[in-house]
Amino acid sequence: MIVLWSGFCFLLWMFHPAYTAQTDLRPNIVIIMADDMGWGDVGANWPETVDTPTIDKLAQEGLRLTDFHAGASVCTPSRGALLTGRLGLRTGLTKNFGTDSLGGIPTNETTIAEILSSAGYRTAMLGKWHLGTQPGHHPLDKGFHSYLGVPYSLDMGCSDPPGANVPLCPACPEENSVYLYDSAPSDCIMDPALPLYRNRSIAHQPVKLADLATMYAEFASNFIHNTSSAPYFLYAALSHMHVPLAHASQYDNVTGRGEYMDTLQELDGLVESILSAVKQTNNNTLFWFTSDNGPWEEKCGLSGSVGPFIGMWQASPEGGGGGSVAKRTIWEAGHRVPSIVYWPQHIKAGTVSNALTSSLDILPTLTSLAGVNLPADRYFDGKDMSSLITGGVRSIREVLFHPINGNGEDGEIGAVRLGCYKVVYYTGGVPDCFRQSGPAQSHADSPLVFNLDVDPSESSPLDRNSSEYFVAAGLARMALMGLRQSVRADNTSTVDYSSSQEGRVCCDRDSPICRCPWD
Ligand SMILES: *[C@@H]1O[C@H](CO)[C@@H](O)[C@H](O)[C@H]1NC(C)=O
Ligand SMILES: *[C@@H]1O[C@H](CO)[C@@H](O)[C@H](O)[C@H]1NC(C)=O
Ligand SMILES: *[C@@H]1O[C@H](CO)[C@@H](O)[C@H](O)[C@H]1NC(C)=O
Ligand SMILES: *[C@@H]1O[C@H](CO)[C@@H](O)[C@H](O)[C@H]1NC(C)=O
Ligand SMILES: *[C@@H]1O[C@H](CO)[C@@H](O)[C@H](O)[C@H]1NC(C)=O
Ligand SMILES: *[C@@H]1O[C@H](CO)[C@@H](O)[C@H](O)[C@H]1NC(C)=O
Ligand SMILES: *[C@@H]1O[C@H](CO)[C@@H](O)[C@H](O)[C@H]1NC(C)=O
Repeated sequence: MIVLWSGFCFLLWMFHPAYTAQTDLRPNIVIIMADDMGWGDVGANWPETVDTPTIDKLAQEGLRLTDFHAGASVCTPSRGALLTGRLGLRTGLTKNFGTDSLGGIPTNETTIAEILSSAGYRTAMLGKWHLGTQPGHHPLDKGFHSYLGVPYSLDMGCSDPPGANVPLCPACPEENSVYLYDSAPSDCIMDPALPLYRNRSIAHQPVKLADLATMYAEFASNFIHNTSSAPYFLYAALSHMHVPLAHASQYDNVTGRGEYMDTLQELDGLVESILSAVKQTNNNTLFWFTSDNGPWEEKCGLSGSVGPFIGMWQASPEGGGGGSVAKRTIWEAGHRVPSIVYWPQHIKAGTVSNALTSSLDILPTLTSLAGVNLPADRYFDGKDMSSLITGGVRSIREVLFHPINGNGEDGEIGAVRLGCYKVVYYTGGVPDCFRQSGPAQSHADSPLVFNLDVDPSESSPLDRNSSEYFVAAGLARMALMGLRQSVRADNTSTVDYSSSQEGRVCCDRDSPICRCPWD
């Protein structure tokens, strides 16, 4: 009966007049991903935050996903998870690339941009890539038709003026004065000047941080206005909220509450200008705002808000009395990020969903909305959310794996979500603002289990003798065994994490700083 019925629906769909017409009904797609922006940095999530009126309005007119997680808690693996729909255990993307890395995203890992461009979409990317700089690993090699942006994080190379950071790092030295670096604080990254790419060529080095938002807005607007014949996909991976913080002079002290909030307002303004280009051209556009991971707590007042996800156990005596609970950790604030989806006429205004979702789900969702199939020669960790966002179903998954990143066993699973339960295998080892980092601890034999419904601050693990604990820990162990089996049976890739001077991105090989004159 079910088979017949679905065959009948399929026939109806085939002959529905809309599909016999020439018009392409597939939506344009805009993904905006901020860098190091916390769950609490969006006013719609956390009313203490008052600097994101545009993003809050998107939530009012669209869908806010409150239990949405980045695929990892640091940059490269998180971006890899979003673009491929697969965990680092499969793609090999388990830790960050450096400025002189030779490798990048594996050439046979398929990105959303490759899938959508094969389906007829025009694709463009702006902002931070962080998936390799060498030939074969550039955004233009992985499905994007046009690119403007920086190859990695804003602190991976000097800039002048240097922007706000902790510690404050010096501007790029003048040519032939590399020795000046000797006086820089030891935790400033002593790399060549930060480059800005326009497609494959370096447009500026060092990039002018304060001009980035304006350049990105202009690039997005040109792309949106100039793409009329096909649906488009824009992936806007903003550098905003990663240190060093910088913004256009019109945002100087606009909030009177410091550099972080001024920069957050600039981010909101940038979102507004991209949105307004969309509204001027075509409202059949799905607009998705999120972040790559939580705040970088080591940066103190220059890091964002974790909202209610304060990972209290880490500060307990068993946790070692402190340490970060955000970026680089498996605590909620490490990977639970803002997620707002706006698509007029398809998503009901003001919807809030607490369904367990992930940036891993973006690829299967967009693939489905574009009307194409997922590649059949590999497994995906992400799930199609299209009927969740349009209100057809209430949940798509009960299980989600959180990898360990930037510390310890990169890529291994450090926590498992099972409905409201979170089973934690690995804690500590990441510095907070006070430079405290509780000891890195494995809880493999006896994990901590939290019930996030009643304990979002992860303060009180369940009693290890309770039946609730027994069931949650047992199911998590089975889920992990299932994951390992699936990874073994899968086509997985390996990533070259080696580095050498040849991997440096430089506009002028004779310049030790890679400083080139402009204008
Ligand atoms: C990148 O190249 C494409 C194709 O030549 C072009 O349409 C696009 O404008 C270029 N992007 C930039 C930022 O120059
Ligand atoms: C299309 O893009 C070009 C730059 O590539 C720009 O000069 C032009 O203004 C854009 N068109 C519109 C309508 O924005
Ligand atoms: C920023 O503005 C606040 C009041 O809005 C003022 O008290 C403060 O001195 C200003 N700071 C700077 C650096 O101008
Ligand atoms: C898109 O919707 C807005 C209202 O939200 C409207 O003002 C605008 O004209 C629409 N744009 C197009 C191209 O139809
Ligand atoms: C792995 O790739 C091979 C060759 O393309 C294919 O036959 C096989 O089905 C793939 N395995 C999975 C799990 O998709
Ligand atoms: C848990 O059970 C063990 C042995 O089954 C026992 O030694 C221990 O006291 C119990 N702990 C609590 C908190 O009940
Ligand atoms: C990528 O290529 C390598 C080497 O040929 C292979 O082992 C791996 O299974 C491929 N990965 C995928 C996802 O097909």
